[in-house]
Amino acid sequence: MHNNPLPLSMRERDLQLFLDSLGVSLPCVDTAILDDYIVIHLEVFAAALFEANDNKAVLLAYRIQGRVFPLLIVFLRGSEEIHFCHSTLLLASYVQGNRMANLLRKVTDTFFSNDMNKMLEILEPSWMNTPLFGQLDCRIFWDTKPEIKIVTDLFLARLGKVCRIPLFPSVFYYNNVYDQNLLEAALSELDECRDVLVLGTGAGLEAVCVALKYGIHVDAIDINPVAIANTIAACRRTGTEHLVHAWVSDGWTEVTKTYDAILFEAPLATNTVDAQDPNRYDFGGKLLRKVLHGLSSHLKAGGRMYLMSRPDLTPFLPAHGLQWEVLRYFETEDGLAIHKIWLE
Ligand SMILES: C[S@@+](CC[C@H](N)C(=O)[O-])C[C@H]1O[C@@H](n2cnc3c(N)ncnc32)[C@H](O)[C@@H]1O
Repeated sequence: MHNNPLPLSMRERDLQLFLDSLGVSLPCVDTAILDDYIVIHLEVFAAALFEANDNKAVLLAYRIQGRVFPLLIVFLRGSEEIHFCHSTLLLASYVQGNRMANLLRKVTDTFFSNDMNKMLEILEPSWMNTPLFGQLDCRIFWDTKPEIKIVTDLFLARLGKVCRIPLFPSVFYYNNVYDQNLLEAALSELDECRDVLVLGTGAGLEAVCVALKYGIHVDAIDINPVAIANTIAACRRTGTEHLVHAWVSDGWTEVTKTYDAILFEAPLATNTVDAQDPNRYDFGGKLLRKVLHGLSSHLKAGGRMYLMSRPDLTPFLPAHGLQWEVLRYFETEDGLAIHKIWLE
């Protein structure tokens, strides 16, 4: 949405972040072109984030008076049971006013009034005649709010309210028991810290909490560019964008600094081949091993990592250089722990 001269609403700006992170740039304003639907193919990496079949996903947009508005992201997912998946990008209102919102809703309804095969043909001809099992709504969750008590207490104390933090498709749901235990164990221990890193930031909740509680600079990284967009959106919603710097990094690859504290709610090491979701699983514990083997280069003297993972870290730790203790165990079907790890 680089084609909009008006100041954008909060949600329009979030939507722009989301689309930018997928590498989508909408065509520029061109009033000479008539109003019509536009289909834009997403890049392979973006389709892969949605686990789209054949790495194919498209953005359906509509041009009104030369300006292009995104309507939907659509892709197919599944092997035996193939689903037609769509993420609606429509907003309740646009800075151009309600007329625009109504118009966009209408053209979206008109698109959905086609029979399924016609829709598939318009979106991606190679999808025609695909036997579909059903539809999946993979939308942005605009109204989600933090529910973890340590977080809601902090929000109320610092902001006077618990504000909404949107959750973009492909990003890990932030109201989870792993995050709760990590924050309960680590947040109160960061008193003396000046430089904190959140590894695998997801939607950005931990970064926001550290920034809100201590008013210090926080770096936040994730392999998923949509998680980085989500973290920036979370910071904008909480007034912490001047404190948090977020960027894409696969483990340590794009990290050069050293830190007083590093928080990492790790995907769980597993040997199950079909556990492919990078939010949840770390096949063979490769990421955990790499992170722990590189950790000593990223900790200051006295620095430590707070890690949510399985209770036994021995298979993943380097032979020398690090010490660790379990701060707490907590019960899930896997049996998990919060570890504190520091330089020997
Ligand atoms: C369990 S989620 C935690 C998300 C977030 N911290 C939260 O509490 O909601 C794990 C995160 O690690 C990220 N991740 C997975 N592999 C990664 C890698 N190689 N480098 C950096 N981040 C990675 C995922 O994208 C995901 O956001």
